[in-house]
Amino acid sequence: MKHLFKQGSNPAKPVLLLLHGTGGTEQDLLPLAEMIDPEASVLSVRGNVLENGMPRFFRRLAMGVFDEEDLIFRTKELHQFLGEAAEKYEFDRSNIIAIGYSNGANIAASLLFHYADSLKGAILHHPMVPRRGIALPNLGSTEVFIAAGKNDPMCPPEESEELDELLTNAGAKTAVHWEMNGHSLTRTEVEAAAKWYREAFENQ
Ligand code: MLT
Repeated sequence: MKHLFKQGSNPAKPVLLLLHGTGGTEQDLLPLAEMIDPEASVLSVRGNVLENGMPRFFRRLAMGVFDEEDLIFRTKELHQFLGEAAEKYEFDRSNIIAIGYSNGANIAASLLFHYADSLKGAILHHPMVPRRGIALPNLGSTEVFIAAGKNDPMCPPEESEELDELLTNAGAKTAVHWEMNGHSLTRTEVEAAAKWYREAFENQ
């Protein structure tokens, strides 16, 4: 997958996996990584799917309606890519924390829904429920931060609560931060994510 890797100054820190929103690139979320943990290595990936020229991580059939078959295929593809990247760049595969926005948050949530040990933690900005009606793996010890909008037109608050409940029931430790800025990725929610990260991983 097209990506960039930036070696951090502290190899003991988690690797921050950046996953952009629809129409984004691997450059978009670099400032977030800087705010979350300036010492951590960064693996930033570009989605492999194009929708009218806009990169995405999986296909959708309509706004908010996911192509499940492609979602499953692309989730596996990303999961396998993370293993290859860990070998190539010589980092600890079990120490990856995803930071995703919108479509990128959805594929990060899909990694959690399909694989027990793909992510050590995840910061999800405006995620949706990636799939329904499946049994989640045991996510014990996975830390998840969800930034959601009370007035997000892409994702009603009930869906954010449903995602929180599904992850919690699978054993994940979650924290939900609410905003009132629609589907936008705001500085205040990134600051809240940075505070949560320090508390969740302070001994790293
Ligand atoms: C998605 O398709 O993943 C969601 O609708 C969010 C978006 O990318 O607009």
